[in-house]
Amino acid sequence: MKYVMGIDLGTSGVKAILVDEDGKVCGEATKPYRLIQDKPGYCEQNPEEWVEQTVAAMKELMARQPVLSKKVGGISFSGQMHGLVLLNESREVLRPAILWNDTRTTAQCIHITNKLGERLHQITKNQALEGFTLPKLLWVKEHEPEIDQQINMFLLPKDYVRFRLTGSVHIDYSDAAGTLLLNIGDRAWSEEICQVFDIPFHICPPLVSSEDEVGTLLPHIAREAGIEEGAKVFAGGADNACGAIGAGILSSGRTLCSIGTSGVILSYEEDHERALQGNLHLFHHAKKDALYTMGVTLSAGYSLNWVKHLLSPEESFQSLLEGAVDVAPGANGLLFTPYLVGERTPHADSIIRGSLIGLDSRHERAHVVRAVLEGITFSLNESIALFRQAGKHIDSIVSIGGGARSRTWLQMQADIFQAEVIQLDNEQGPALGAAMLAAVGCGWYPSLEACADQFIHQAGVYEPEQKHANLYADLFHLYQQIYTQTRDIHAGLAQYRSI
Ligand code: XUL
Repeated sequence: MKYVMGIDLGTSGVKAILVDEDGKVCGEATKPYRLIQDKPGYCEQNPEEWVEQTVAAMKELMARQPVLSKKVGGISFSGQMHGLVLLNESREVLRPAILWNDTRTTAQCIHITNKLGERLHQITKNQALEGFTLPKLLWVKEHEPEIDQQINMFLLPKDYVRFRLTGSVHIDYSDAAGTLLLNIGDRAWSEEICQVFDIPFHICPPLVSSEDEVGTLLPHIAREAGIEEGAKVFAGGADNACGAIGAGILSSGRTLCSIGTSGVILSYEEDHERALQGNLHLFHHAKKDALYTMGVTLSAGYSLNWVKHLLSPEESFQSLLEGAVDVAPGANGLLFTPYLVGERTPHADSIIRGSLIGLDSRHERAHVVRAVLEGITFSLNESIALFRQAGKHIDSIVSIGGGARSRTWLQMQADIFQAEVIQLDNEQGPALGAAMLAAVGCGWYPSLEACADQFIHQAGVYEPEQKHANLYADLFHLYQQIYTQTRDIHAGLAQYRSI
């Protein structure tokens, strides 16, 4: 039997899985790393910790199954999107990475929008949003000129880790599409955008497709991880694109709900020119020549983590969620908006913060937990509503990540989204998509679709319960009003935020 390894470089940690030719997941190892949040809106990480923890996860995985080590034929990656890693001429990291959920770049986004006008959308098919890479580059240019002068190349998180593991630098189209520097139609870096913002063209890394073979593990990495030299490394893709592959979102009409630190609603797209409102994104898929559209809730799993840490740090997620099962839909009149670090879709707003509205002396911890779950799901439903407005037919959604680990949350998704929600068997998120890219790259399967037939299996389907769906439709209407009704209050409170 042969194996491939899928590595997902997430925001809270890295996960490595080993999958055999039949699609059986034979092992899994995860390693955490820190977030650095020194100022309001800032969110950074140390790229060295990514590398250390990735190698540690690979090593742990292989140590559990040493007999397999000789047979790892291919490795591929998935990673948190948009984050900026800056390298000097000697390929050393110049500063901590600025992540996708860092919202310091509002001024740069306004500058980009004003300067490029309609060209921005014509070239990149997206709007300037704080999370994307170009605004971060402009922030460094403005605030850290001594760093800016030393930049020889930028990379995205998983591309940096892959560089350290193989010695060669590349970026794939699915991650390049999230930089705001790529001409999506031409599949090439935009010289025009680089010129307008005085960005040297050579700092943009070489472009490859997600399934392209880009090298092999460096000998000392292979030794340390316990993998035989010569295992092929394939480029891999953005975490959401890989999450979509691992969930079988490979043809038109297929939609995904993925809840990690962020939460996304992602839909396979064939129409390059689809008119998208409300800060929905259009990016290259990690499947060749395909695209997807996506809306992003910045704090999805992050909100649940936050409430657990606050109310019940010692409790497991499972028991926390079980507590919410007995609370009726609507959390006894409590609504939560998950804007803990600002929001992306539909309101790109770095100033807005979360609300818990309707607090009553009879509310208990379980009500708050239920309200947080519902608030995250309402936020994702805003993206679904935008897709439906754009003419997409969404009646079936595959759910992966944290939202797929609880029956209560899966049923809640079906009721709020008013669509059937599909749970997968032994779901592994973006790491499985990365492993599938390696499996196809190794020639095990002729296409991702053929690989998906073998690797992905449905475990269950949750249908909307009409009574609850009606109740949630009313509550969603109230939920949607919270943003406009609290925006000025949050703007007033912003001056009191010091940490
Ligand atoms: C997508 C986004 C997040 C990250 C999370 O645009 O910013 O979903 O990819 O890792």
